[in-house]
Amino acid sequence: MTADEMKRAAAAAALEFVQPGMRLGLGTGSTASWFVRLLGEKVAAGLDVVGVPTSEATRDLALSLGIRIISLDDVADLDITVDGADEFDPAFNMIKGGGGALLREKIVASSSRRMIVITDESKRVQHLGAFPLPIEVVTFAAGTTLRAIADVARANGLSGTLAFRQTKSGDRFVTDQGNWIVDASFRQILDPKALAASLLWIPGVVETGLFVGLASVIVVGSPDGITVIDKPVK
Ligand code: A5P
Repeated sequence: MTADEMKRAAAAAALEFVQPGMRLGLGTGSTASWFVRLLGEKVAAGLDVVGVPTSEATRDLALSLGIRIISLDDVADLDITVDGADEFDPAFNMIKGGGGALLREKIVASSSRRMIVITDESKRVQHLGAFPLPIEVVTFAAGTTLRAIADVARANGLSGTLAFRQTKSGDRFVTDQGNWIVDASFRQILDPKALAASLLWIPGVVETGLFVGLASVIVVGSPDGITVIDKPVK
């Protein structure tokens, strides 16, 4: 099985959570786009659901497949959000934002009764941090914010390269909200909750890619098949 086949299999398994009439959060990234494409097939066959996309890319994809899009503002909450992850640990902490959509992804996931995470085996880690942590920052005084992030990292016992994300053509990457992303190569984050809280104290930080306490279920595609893991009971 290729990585892409594992992602597709995880996305297909997540469709089992979808019931007619549901309001769905639609994630961003290569795994989530499999879910949207498979959902589009179900919608074409008559499934009645509405979706809130977590990025402009997902909005375009969903609309092209005939999936009805609503605004999050128009509903009290969502039934489920289905989204990918860059890393997840045994306690269901995650790093997200490799695709740059972490802010909308977190708003949408936080407004959902359940977050179903779809991944392949390569995303499973013992401790977060090998994947650089995306941190969304406002463009004003971004250099000052970068220095403040370095200070907070030090205070949390962390070090590593901090780099503004660039596009393939060498321009600075701009999020759907018009912000920039700092990718922080911390290598090993032992206390994701504490780090997320202290980074959010920095005025120029809008949000971090640390998703703590949000995932309800993680669906993992591997060469041996699909594993559905429920959130561990504390
Ligand atoms: C998008 O901003 C991310 O949070 C993605 O959900 C995450 O990067 C996983 O992406 P892939 O499914 O492409 O690996």
